[in-house]
Amino acid sequence: MLEMNTPFYYYNTDLLNSNLNNLVEASKKYGIDVHYALKANYNERILNIIQSYGLGADCVSGNEVKRAVSCGFEGKDIVFAGVGKSDREILDALASDIFCFHVESVQELEVINELANSVNKVARIALRLNPNVEAETIAQITTGTSDNKFGVHHNDIEAAISGLKSMENVQFIGLHFHIGSQITNMNVFANLSKKVNYYYDYFTNNGCDVSYINLGGGLGVNYYDPTEAPDFDAYFKVFRDHLNLAEGVNLHVELGRSVVGQCGDLYTRVLYMKKATHKEFAIVDAGMNDFMRPALYKSYHKIEKYTGGEATKQYDIVGPICESTDTFAKDVELPELRRGDVVVIKTVGAYGEVLANRYNLRDDIRAYYSDECLVEV
Ligand code: LLP
Repeated sequence: MLEMNTPFYYYNTDLLNSNLNNLVEASKKYGIDVHYALKANYNERILNIIQSYGLGADCVSGNEVKRAVSCGFEGKDIVFAGVGKSDREILDALASDIFCFHVESVQELEVINELANSVNKVARIALRLNPNVEAETIAQITTGTSDNKFGVHHNDIEAAISGLKSMENVQFIGLHFHIGSQITNMNVFANLSKKVNYYYDYFTNNGCDVSYINLGGGLGVNYYDPTEAPDFDAYFKVFRDHLNLAEGVNLHVELGRSVVGQCGDLYTRVLYMKKATHKEFAIVDAGMNDFMRPALYKSYHKIEKYTGGEATKQYDIVGPICESTDTFAKDVELPELRRGDVVVIKTVGAYGEVLANRYNLRDDIRAYYSDECLVEV
């Protein structure tokens, strides 16, 4: 019987390590540098493991920059994106001597120039462009079409280039793109590559020296088969096959989900069983506050009964929160469930623990790690 109090996140550190080994091997093979996107999971133990593989960090807030630094990432390996960086965040990042700001608007460029001037620094910047590429993922996590708030839009590029030429406290080093997340169709990255080629030529022809290109993140994981490892090789290859840049341009990506998604599971216990006219509910002790993806995106996550067995029944797995969206899965086939049984929600290592909150004034959810305690039947 499972002794630990539920609910909790459980991280399989062996799986994380083997995934990181695959990632590092593939990135070396294709000569593409990887930053880990902290937003997917900034749990310190997880970050310490990731940092030990020599990856850089991709941050989207001042606190993420601080967390990256405190977990051993060096300023020179940190990039900082985000449509709404505050003055304080920019000044802090300048003080940490980060590698590069990914700048999302002409006005932000002006602000960074002024702030860098005020502390006698020159900020390295890359323009995050909005390439208007469809990511073929769900709308909520599509970021690179012309209706999204992200990046410098096509009509502002000229103003950005002429601004850059007159600014003394920013140094333009290149271009950044990020078109969305949970992308499983590699053609999407081929389409992105065509836009990257176009903008690379455009900037170069307009007198801007592009030495750095960051292609963003977005590689999806297989939520239906938690045992299938992400294919980093295929992901890098598609860029190498389709990008047409001068030699010496440094290529970077910033992956989150595919690095940590599969190493985390959520353990939760059945509190009550309830039969309705057409359904049976298993009411579990984790709520949408502990794990928001199904409520936010109607996302699918495989659910298993901890002790296994043959699936003979259909249940809606729901939490205790006072909202009908507090539903982890509908009509899922499982072995018979009773009060006290433990069910495991799979593949929650990315955008799981980081999105947890205390709605309904519930407790903070805790985490365990396979290298410090084993979850055993
Ligand atoms: N770079 C930037 C600028 C990003 O905005 C993101 C993710 C990434 C990199 C990492 O993307 P990844 O490799 O993880 O796909 N909460 C949503 C996902 C939001 C993604 C936000 N940006 C979810 O649970 O699906």
